[in-house]
Amino acid sequence: MSLAQRDRDHIWHPLTQHQTAASPLGIVKAKGVWLYDEQGSKYIDAISSWYTAVYGHCHPTLIQAAQNQAAQLDQVVFTGFTHEPAVQLAEKLIGILPSNQSKVFFNDNGSTAVEAAIKMALQYHDNKGQKRKKLLAFSNGFHGDTLAAMSASNLSVYNGPFEEHFIEVIRIAPPQKEDASDYFEQASEIVASGDIAAFVFEPVVQGAAGMKFHDAEGLSELLRICQKHDVLCIADEVMTGFGKTGRHFASEYLSESPDIICLSKALTAGMLPMGITSCTQQVFDAFLDNNVAKGFFHAHTYSANPLACAVASKAIDLLQTDEIQEGIKRVRQSHEAFLKELESHSLVSNPRTLGVILAFEVNIAMERYGNLRQHMYDFLMERGCYLRPLGNTLYLVPPYVISSEELEQLYDGLRAVIDFLATSKIS
Ligand SMILES: Cc1ncc(COP(=O)(O)O)c(C=O)c1O
Repeated sequence: MSLAQRDRDHIWHPLTQHQTAASPLGIVKAKGVWLYDEQGSKYIDAISSWYTAVYGHCHPTLIQAAQNQAAQLDQVVFTGFTHEPAVQLAEKLIGILPSNQSKVFFNDNGSTAVEAAIKMALQYHDNKGQKRKKLLAFSNGFHGDTLAAMSASNLSVYNGPFEEHFIEVIRIAPPQKEDASDYFEQASEIVASGDIAAFVFEPVVQGAAGMKFHDAEGLSELLRICQKHDVLCIADEVMTGFGKTGRHFASEYLSESPDIICLSKALTAGMLPMGITSCTQQVFDAFLDNNVAKGFFHAHTYSANPLACAVASKAIDLLQTDEIQEGIKRVRQSHEAFLKELESHSLVSNPRTLGVILAFEVNIAMERYGNLRQHMYDFLMERGCYLRPLGNTLYLVPPYVISSEELEQLYDGLRAVIDFLATSKIS
């Protein structure tokens, strides 16, 4: 029996309507940019397995780090104990994060990194004797699937049945270059109300919204407005972190630094699950008190798992190598050339690129997970390209180690899918 057949008996997949979904594809191996299925076909992982495996799958340095650590210290409670991999990772991260970041708090994934950030912000104000109950967040943001992170998210396809349980969130559109002063006046009014605990945002690129870019200067102005009123600014760098926008962190495009930063995904390069919520000394200090309950009583059993820390530490070393930085540059330059071609295509709108991210819309209305979107997905898979279109948005976030030939295979897949849509009658 195939993996796909055995899977059907007992497994409930994420983001899947099992009544209508096709069987999942059994993947047996991954190496570099390639995923191999159980029938012997191979696919370029054009989204780095949801933005994780940016140095390529099964990187020998990371395998070695996991193996060495597994033989030394596998897991230990992180309340009352510490260990070398956690300390080393914290030192390395603080060395590359925006300079106002001072402390790191460990959690398990992107959602819990954001969940902890929101709880930190609520308690930060509570510890100071202020009841601030609301959040400020962008329309169409995505921050994860735990309840507080979902509250901050604004993609109705995921939120429907849960909305009545959410933390109250005030929404503003992400800033655009052409925004006039009334946009910022409106933001100032919201923030001055005094009941906003935190502003939660994906800096510069909104991933799940369809790789939508916004204006870094405008975002910096929003941070200035928020920080004037002690509204903590939470940058969700779960998708953008570790080089994807061409800089180590998208926050580096801002002139103001966030108070709290959420990390996951490429943090451990696709090898092990882990999240981190970093913060300033000022945030940390608001939890210091003789009263135990003013501490941050939030924990995960696998907080700072030594294997995940050891791998993340080596991943940060990789990020800083010339080879990886040159890879990012090569992908960026290649995307910029392909963008020119896309700009002249009548079926393509809003082609855009930043760092290794390339995205565009096709001018055909489509449901986010509808039939036509499925046809595009299948069409690309048949050509060895693993992409996950979001409705009519097609995007690439390839591993930084992708070769020029492999990139060309992805561009050819995109050229072919555009031609297919131009002649297709499917809807
Ligand atoms: C910006 C952002 N935040 C949070 C998350 C949630 O991360 P996880 O799926 O690891 O819980 C995601 C996942 O795609 C994300 O893109």
